[in-house]
Amino acid sequence: MMSVTIVALFVTSFLSGPVCGAEYDYGAYDPARDAFRPGQFPDGFFWSTATASYQIEGGWNASGKGESIWDRFSHTPGKVQRGDTGDVACDSYNKYQEDVQLMKNLGLRFYRFSLSWTRIFPDGTVAGGVNQDGVDYYNNVINELIANGITPMVTLYHWDLPQALQDRYGGWVSGELVQHFDDYATFAFQTFGDRVKYWITFNEPWVVCTAGYGSGGHAPGIQDSGNSTYLCGHTIIKSHASAWHSYDQTFRSVQGGQVSITLSCGWTEPFDPDLPADVIAADRDLQFQMGWFAHPIYTSQGDYPPAMKDIILQKSLAQGFQESRLPQFTAAEIASISGTYDFFGLNHYSSGIVKDKVSTGQDPNFWTDQDLESTVAPEWPQAASSWLYSVPWGIRRLLRYIKQNYNDPEIYITENGWSEEEADPPILEDTGRLCFYMGYINEVLKAIDLDGVNVRAYTAWSLMDNFEWAEGYTERFGLHSVDFTDPNRPRTPKQSVSFYKDVIANNGFPEGADVTTMVRNMWEECRGGPAGWAAATRANVGLLALSFLVTAMYNFLNM
Ligand code: GAL
Repeated sequence: MMSVTIVALFVTSFLSGPVCGAEYDYGAYDPARDAFRPGQFPDGFFWSTATASYQIEGGWNASGKGESIWDRFSHTPGKVQRGDTGDVACDSYNKYQEDVQLMKNLGLRFYRFSLSWTRIFPDGTVAGGVNQDGVDYYNNVINELIANGITPMVTLYHWDLPQALQDRYGGWVSGELVQHFDDYATFAFQTFGDRVKYWITFNEPWVVCTAGYGSGGHAPGIQDSGNSTYLCGHTIIKSHASAWHSYDQTFRSVQGGQVSITLSCGWTEPFDPDLPADVIAADRDLQFQMGWFAHPIYTSQGDYPPAMKDIILQKSLAQGFQESRLPQFTAAEIASISGTYDFFGLNHYSSGIVKDKVSTGQDPNFWTDQDLESTVAPEWPQAASSWLYSVPWGIRRLLRYIKQNYNDPEIYITENGWSEEEADPPILEDTGRLCFYMGYINEVLKAIDLDGVNVRAYTAWSLMDNFEWAEGYTERFGLHSVDFTDPNRPRTPKQSVSFYKDVIANNGFPEGADVTTMVRNMWEECRGGPAGWAAATRANVGLLALSFLVTAMYNFLNM
């Protein structure tokens, strides 16, 4: 009997990690976690799609527009796949009315887009003069949206910094940008704020600072990981707070709008949930992604997260620096940054699994500062983008984490989406995207209904295929396909358009609706397909082994 128990124990610990403390099988289908939940979203829920100026507008030097860092970067050979540029992109500079009709057909109540700073201020400064054509363009877009019953949500900075500010100050590493950003934001509030009630200061500062000033893979292409990366974050946080205060002091009482920031964050699980070091490492990962910006802004104590401050100081001293490479806020700054939000803007796409792993690297580096190693479960379906895996339950856990850690804010999901590769003919039967949206939107519903998370909006990235940064047009995130070889840039709906349209029309998945039946029919196949079900079997074998062990122990005790 003893030997039976030992074998059962061995089998169980091997197959069902969490029971005995080992690698957890995050790829397995867990019916309690993953089952479809029918139901509707709260009344007045905002359904939206998003785009960004450089990714869709084109007209890169039209009518007085100044050069941005993305114009310069994409015109530099070797920076963007195939040498693709945003010179024409989706040509939304000319086709915005057609775009609004696409939104209207979807039944959208909300649309998130960004302003190109250099279309309004060609050299980035008020002193350099305003470009009236740019102002007219955005007035036209905003008016067209409103005339079609769509509420605009405007991002002030979606990565296209004026090249002149990069040349003059070195970009976001310089504190000089705080005032220039505030001037630009104030002008936008003043000019468009009678009609725009939802503002986002910055889109994903994490990406701006790690890719733009760390790896150099994004404009302006600075490679200075672990130094400029943090300086960039520091300036952006101050710039955000300054613009929020300008709105609060001057415009809020008259215009009655809201201003916040959009942060990007994947969800992270510990490799071994029974190992405290891995559990702490998983949280550290979230701190370096989201807490970096969320802790100063969304917590009442403010400042950078303690986990980040401690580890960067330690690393910096060990590397021979006199002080931390993470800059410090003054007490006055901490106080004036804390609370500068009206909602929590969240971009979420994927999930990861991390292990604690101490690094002794001598060079400053944002990644080795974190002391962790990342992986994914092999069963997670992967998109065309190398970093993007479909893990629907990750969004629910992240939403709950935000509720618990950042003062239960109103959360606006400002991006969520799936890429497929460029293909000829283009992929219009976009089942991967359909499955992704089904799973993720349903998990948002669970977060609202079961966890009491205050989610107010869901935004699909993106309305249409567009310039995917350093990947050019090789990765396609659109609900609509765009033919970039045709000068007219025709838009064609993909299958996911009719799905999203039905979700919007039904405000979710009510019992009896066709969309609910369709989701039920596709659910199992979508949740990982054959690979996912293989994983589920493996997990069940683990459970079987566990029940075997319990039986064996019971028999042993009753011998
Ligand atoms: C986000 C970004 C978008 C879009 C998307 C897909 O990080 O805000 O502009 O590119 O990712 O990669």
